[in-house]
Amino acid sequence: MKIGIIGTGYVGLVSTVCFASVGHTLVSIDRRDIIVDSLTRGIPTIYEENMESMLQNTIASKSITFSSDFNALKDCEVVFLAVGTPSLPNGHADLSQVFSAIDSLLPIVSLQTMIAVRSTVPVGTISRIRNYLASQGKQAQMLGFCPEFLREGVAISDFLNPSYLVFASEQKEGCLLLQKVYQPIIDKNPEVKIVCCTTYETAELTKYTINSFLATKITFMNQIAQLAQSSGADMSQLISAIGADRRIGDMFLTPGPGFGGSCFPKDTLSLVKCGISYGVDMSVVEAVNHANERHKEYVASWILEELEKHVYVEGKTIAVWGLTFKAGTDDVRDSAAIKIIRSLLIRNIKVRAYDPKGNQNFQQQVGTPNLVLCSTPIEAIINADALVVLTEWPEFSKVDVSLVKSSMNGTQPFVFDTRGILPLQDFKQQGFITYKFGI
Ligand code: UDX
Repeated sequence: MKIGIIGTGYVGLVSTVCFASVGHTLVSIDRRDIIVDSLTRGIPTIYEENMESMLQNTIASKSITFSSDFNALKDCEVVFLAVGTPSLPNGHADLSQVFSAIDSLLPIVSLQTMIAVRSTVPVGTISRIRNYLASQGKQAQMLGFCPEFLREGVAISDFLNPSYLVFASEQKEGCLLLQKVYQPIIDKNPEVKIVCCTTYETAELTKYTINSFLATKITFMNQIAQLAQSSGADMSQLISAIGADRRIGDMFLTPGPGFGGSCFPKDTLSLVKCGISYGVDMSVVEAVNHANERHKEYVASWILEELEKHVYVEGKTIAVWGLTFKAGTDDVRDSAAIKIIRSLLIRNIKVRAYDPKGNQNFQQQVGTPNLVLCSTPIEAIINADALVVLTEWPEFSKVDVSLVKSSMNGTQPFVFDTRGILPLQDFKQQGFITYKFGI
C-alpha cells in the first residue's frame, strides 16, 4: 500500500521506517527541508535503537520518499498525521499542527484516502475534525484515529511487536482499512489484540487512560519507595511480592527520580483538562502530576541533606551521570535531571554531567556556566566530590569503580544511585559512602 506520514518525530519517523520495513511504500512529509535532506541521506534526526540501520535499509529498497511537498502524498491510500500536540501554557493540547496538516491535505487527497490521526489528541478532537471536514464540504472524507503506544528507546521493537492495536473510524470500512495497513504486522503477531472502537472518543480516552494509569503506577511506587527508605522496608523484596499479584503485574514498578518524557507529563495534564471540560473530577490524575514534581524535589533534597551530614555543599562539585528522561533515547523533555540539577546549581554547587545521547539536548534546556557537559563518564567525575546517577544507561553499571574513585576529589567520596543500577558493594569497598533510592 502507498502510505503517507506527516511528521518525522519520535512517532512519525518510527512509523515510517517500520511500515516501510514490512512492505509498504511510504511518503514521509516534513516542512523543514533540512530534516528532509538529512533523512533522504539516511541520517536520522532522532535517536532510537536500530533507527539508522532501518532507515538506510528502507531507503536502499526505495520504500521511502522524504519530501516537504504535500503533493507527494497524492494517491496515498492512508495518510497518518504524526505531528506534535504539545501542551499550551494553559495545559491544553496545541492542535494547530493537526489542523494545519489537514488544510494542506484536503486539496490534494481524494475522499477515499483516509486521514488517520496518530498524534495523541484530547477526547473529542477527532469528532471536531469530522465536523470541520463537513464544514469544508468533505463529509465523505475517510477519517480514522490510530493512536500509538510506543515507548521511546524501544519504539521500533514496540511497533513491530505490539500486544494490542486500537483503531477508530465512524465509516464502516475505516477500521478494516487501518487493519489492512497493519496486516503484515498482525500476521507476525497473531496474539495481538485488535480493538476497533465504534467512537473516536473511545480510542482517544483509551490512549490517555493507558498513559495516565502507567504514570499513576510509577508515581505511587515512587511514594512507596520514599516510605520504604524512611521505614527500612526493602523495595526489591516488596516489588517482587506485589509484582507476583496478577492484578498488579510486574512491570512499571521500578522507583526512580520521577517520570519525564514528552508523553506522561503532557497526557496526564491533558486528561485533567479533559475532565474539566466535561465537568468530571480527575483529581487522581491531577494529584499524580503534582506528586511527580514533588518527588523530583524530594530526590534533590535527599541528595543535599545526606551530603550536608558530612560536608558543606556550597562550592562542591557533583558529577551527574544521566540527563535523558530514560535510557535508550536522546530525549530530555521533562527529564527529572532538569529539576534535580537546577536544585544543585542553585546551592552554588558545580555540576559536571554526562549522558551518552542527551548532552546536546540538555544543554539547550539548562545551559549555565556552572554546568559542564562532559563526553565520558570518567571526564564528568574528575575532581568531583559526589556522583549522582539519574538515568539507567547500562554503561554506568559496568564502570571501573577503582578508576572512578581515583578520578574523584581525594576526600571522602559519595555516590547516589536513583535507578538501582550501580554495583554499590564495589563502591563501598572503594571507600564510598553509598546511597540508593528504591531498589
Ligand atoms: C510512554 C508509554 O509507555 C508509551 O506507551 C506511550 O506511547 C508514550 O509514553 P515513554 O514516555 O517513551 O512511553 O517512556 P516509558 O518507558 O513509559 O517511561 C516513562 C517514564 O517513566 C520515564 O521517565 C521512565 O524513567 C519512568 N519509569 C518507567 C519509571 O520510573 N519506572 C518504571 O518502572 C518505568
